[in-house]
Amino acid sequence: MAFTSTPLTPRIGSEVRLDKAALLGGALASDIRELLVSRGVLVFRGLHLDDEELRTAARSLGDLRIGSAKRAADGKVLKEGEEGVLKVSLDPEVNPEYARYLFGNLLWHMDGTYEQVPPFATLFTPYCLSQEGGDTMFASTYAAYEDLPAEERERLGTLRVVHTMQAALFPAKRDCTPEEFAMWSSYPQRSHPLVWQHKSGRKSLVLSTSAAWVEGMHPAESHDLLQRLMAHATQEKYTYRHQWQLGDLAIWDNTGMMHRAMPFEAASKREFHRCTLNGEEAVTAPERAVETAA
Ligand SMILES: [Fe+2]
Repeated sequence: MAFTSTPLTPRIGSEVRLDKAALLGGALASDIRELLVSRGVLVFRGLHLDDEELRTAARSLGDLRIGSAKRAADGKVLKEGEEGVLKVSLDPEVNPEYARYLFGNLLWHMDGTYEQVPPFATLFTPYCLSQEGGDTMFASTYAAYEDLPAEERERLGTLRVVHTMQAALFPAKRDCTPEEFAMWSSYPQRSHPLVWQHKSGRKSLVLSTSAAWVEGMHPAESHDLLQRLMAHATQEKYTYRHQWQLGDLAIWDNTGMMHRAMPFEAASKREFHRCTLNGEEAVTAPERAVETAA
C-alpha cells in the first residue's frame, strides 16, 4: 500500500497520510476503499480540496450522486448541489432548501434510510468552521453488532424497522409547525431489516434516529428496543469524534456507520462541502442458519 494509516481508536477510524496528487490520481482507490470499509471512517489532514478535486476524489471511489432523493417544499426533487457537491450549511442564503433538514444532523443517523439502496459513502470537507462546537461524531454499527450476545444477534436478524422522516426530525425540532410536521409525514417511509448482511458477509445494525418502529412489535417494546440499541451502539468504544481543521477530508462508510454533528452556534457560517457516493447494495437481512438433520 502506497500510503500509511494510523488507527484513531481501536474499533473505528483511521488517519490516512498521502498527498493530494496520490489521492486524486486514483491508483490507490481500491486500497482506500478497502480501508474505508474496514475502519468505517478515514480522515486526511491538510488536503484543502476544491470542489473539482472533491468530485475527482469521489469519482475515484464510487458512483458520485448527482440527484437527491429529498424533496423540496414544492414537491420537486432537490439537486444534490452543483454537479454532486452539496454545500452543507444552516444558513438559508447558502443553501435555502437543505437548511430545512440539516438541524436533524445533530442526532445520530445514517443517511438515506428512506431509499431502498442507501448511499455507500460520504466525502466531507470544511470550508468555514464555527467558532465553537461543530465536531462530527461517528459510531460503528458493525462493531456494535459484533459485540451483541449470539442469541440477541439471531433474534434481531429476524426483525424489520420502518424509517420515517418525522421520526428523524421531530426530536430535533419539537417546536415545528403543523405544516412542517405534515410535510415530513408526507415523505415516503421505508422498511429495512434491522440487521444488514452485507455482500462482504459482514453484518451491521441499521440504526438511525429515523428508525420509527419495529414491524409487528408492541409500540412500547419497539420503542424500548430501539432506544436500547441506540444507547448500545453509541457507547464511547464504538465512536470517534472528529475535531475539524480547514484542509481536512473525512470519508465514511454510510452503510456501517452512524454520524452526527455536535451543536454549534446557529448564526455561525459553518459550511462544509459534501459528495455522496451512491449505494451499491440494498439492505439485506441475514441468511437464517439452515438446520440440517444429522
Ligand atoms: Fe448525515
